[in-house]
Amino acid sequence: FQPKVLAGRKLLITAGPTYEAIDPVRGITNRSSGKMGFAIARAAAEAGADVTLVAGPVHLPTPLGVRRIDVMSARDMLEAVMPLATSHDVFVATAAVADWRPAQTQAHKIKKNAAPGEAQVPHLALAENPDILATVAALPQPPLCVGFAAESQDLVKHAREKRQRKNVPLIVGNLGPATFGQDDNTLVLVDARGERELSRADKLTLARELVRDIAQRLTTYPAL
Ligand code: C5P
Repeated sequence: FQPKVLAGRKLLITAGPTYEAIDPVRGITNRSSGKMGFAIARAAAEAGADVTLVAGPVHLPTPLGVRRIDVMSARDMLEAVMPLATSHDVFVATAAVADWRPAQTQAHKIKKNAAPGEAQVPHLALAENPDILATVAALPQPPLCVGFAAESQDLVKHAREKRQRKNVPLIVGNLGPATFGQDDNTLVLVDARGERELSRADKLTLARELVRDIAQRLTTYPAL
């Protein structure tokens, strides 16, 4: 039984990778499984929150009582998130949003050999994707924004930098990509005051701890 520390609160969560189409059959994506974001959605719902989960392409069941919106690309994710952001108390960005997308998506499958015998290697021009977390954090009255940082080294240093660059109160660092697809994780919570480590545990246990931490922060957010 989980205490209802988020009763009456609305949480918006992004999870999973995004998929950026090159043509109708190919695309750019990454190895995010969505497990951490789905665990947070489940833990928040258990804690009594009204939860909306905006999910990239993942193979995970929707947690009980959670409203789910499925999207593919970063731009789809931004479009789903923005109209909802201001009506929520908390925005948790766990999604591993693709940094770049093909500058153009081809309407038809790119053929391997346009002319017989001729080796044609297509060149892929990329465009930068919108930063969903930074866009939400820049709203005049943003929800309490929580970002994630998956780093392979210097976790706390990068998490601190990311917190300032995106202008969010809390960044949760984890040692990715080692954590991708795993059931266990180690988290470090980085805020303006310092760091707090949540020791290695399964993602649902960590999600429940994070939810308690967020509930505590909400009691003083926005700071006057
Ligand atoms: O520095 P990086 O962009 O990897 O920061 C990761 C954090 O920012 C995560 O919370 C991720 O969900 C969010 N993000 C986002 N939109 C992007 C890139 C990252 O919301 N385009």
